[in-house]
Amino acid sequence: MARAKKSGGAQPLAIELLMTDHRKVEMLFDQYEEEKEGDEETKRTLAQQICGELTAHAQLEEELFYPWLRENLDEEKMELVEEAEVEHQSAKDLIAQIEGAGEVDETYDAKVKVLGEYIKHHVQEEENEIFEEVREMQEELDELGQEMAARKAELMEEMGLEMDEGAMAAMQQQKGGRGKQQGARGSR
Ligand SMILES: [Fe+2]
Ligand SMILES: [Fe+2]
Repeated sequence: MARAKKSGGAQPLAIELLMTDHRKVEMLFDQYEEEKEGDEETKRTLAQQICGELTAHAQLEEELFYPWLRENLDEEKMELVEEAEVEHQSAKDLIAQIEGAGEVDETYDAKVKVLGEYIKHHVQEEENEIFEEVREMQEELDELGQEMAARKAELMEEMGLEMDEGAMAAMQQQKGGRGKQQGARGSR
């Protein structure tokens, strides 16, 4: 199983993609916080970007990652997936409120802030509890990651969002790596 361990502590592709998204929205929430005294348009643009990124990310997890977890996670850990799905629903309610808000006022700031705190908690649970449980399934998660990367590109295009460069690079690198790997395992 030495092959399952990659040098440099690289994550399986599916996990790397999701973590790249997590870091990106955290950065956007920080930016919003910095712009708190700034003009309304900048804030609205940032908040809309946050909502778009989170919507695409949640859809990706719900369509591909969570169903995969339901098949591969230990039965006694399944409540983690249930909880994550409930958290997605609450986040979506808040996202809808932000997207539908007429004014960028203190209530708007409060909603963005609460969404940020909520997402932070959710991300910690995903990364510290769920990802930890499946991280060893490198090959399966690399394969799932390919599918997720393709779906993510579609979702981003549909929503008019820009595909993250880090995720693109990871996907390209992975393709190259897999090619070589398959060559080396040609006799299988
Ligand atoms: Fe999630
Ligand atoms: Fe996530």
